[in-house]
Amino acid sequence: MELAGKIAVITGVSKGIGFELASQLLEKGCKVYGLGRNSNPALVHSSFQFIETDVKQVASVKKAFAQIYGQQEEIHILVNNAGLGYFGYLENMSDEQWDEMTQTNLNGMFYCCREVLPGMKKQKYGHIINIASTAALEGMPQVSAYCATKWAVKGLSESLFREVRDFKIKVTCVYPGSTKTDFFRNSPGIQPHDYMLMPSDLALAMVQALEMPDNFHTVNLEIRPLQPKGPTK
Ligand SMILES: NC(=O)c1ccc[n+]([C@@H]2O[C@H](COP(=O)([O-])OP(=O)(O)OC[C@H]3O[C@@H](n4cnc5c(N)ncnc54)[C@H](OP(=O)(O)O)[C@@H]3O)[C@@H](O)[C@H]2O)c1
Repeated sequence: MELAGKIAVITGVSKGIGFELASQLLEKGCKVYGLGRNSNPALVHSSFQFIETDVKQVASVKKAFAQIYGQQEEIHILVNNAGLGYFGYLENMSDEQWDEMTQTNLNGMFYCCREVLPGMKKQKYGHIINIASTAALEGMPQVSAYCATKWAVKGLSESLFREVRDFKIKVTCVYPGSTKTDFFRNSPGIQPHDYMLMPSDLALAMVQALEMPDNFHTVNLEIRPLQPKGPTK
């Protein structure tokens, strides 16, 4: 897809992976709508618009997309990035932590996909990127609740891909390993470090997937740091 002039919606642009992707898509000439609870003052661009949205709230998501479709006939790219993780033993997980993860990581993705699918099917064109995690590919101790939400993202993405491919809509599920962002603020004992993936590199991989020819579909993108503990001697 030639990115210049395309309309992209990204959830969670205040920091981390979503911020980097928004910046790179703006550089490529996209018009970017950032949906989130907070904006980032560094995202100032004539083609960027922030719409305050809590993806956990269906009414908030509906309002955001109504605003976008009031300005644009078509949305070409949706990136479901907003997400968070609480790590720890399952029996210590609170109802609030479980609900926040399931509502953000899974419900929010469902609400946003549902808003763009009718338009993408009509225009017979679109690319949805869902950010899962390597925690969607393997069980991990003390990550059970987060893993559950991301396995659900994998299931939704793989099924949706088969539902919409004949409408020329791509669905890519991204499985990043540990990435140096603010994500680990809720995970005592894990400090972001320089041997993690860099959010700008992940954003570049997604831009490249978006730029591939129409009949080339990156279904899954598993990305890990090559040497997560640093160079070996
Ligand atoms: N970092 C990693 O190691 C890693 C690895 C694999 C997958 N991931 C996934 O990558 C995605 C991005 O994470 P990140 O590493 O960039 O973390 P981050 O720096 O904490 O950024 C998360 C983004 O999600 C937004 N967000 C959270 N809850 C939201 C809500 N209810 N409504 C709207 N926006 C919301 C946050 O915005 P505000 O809090 O400002 O509202 C923020 O912009 C997540 O889905 C995460 O699960 C991360």
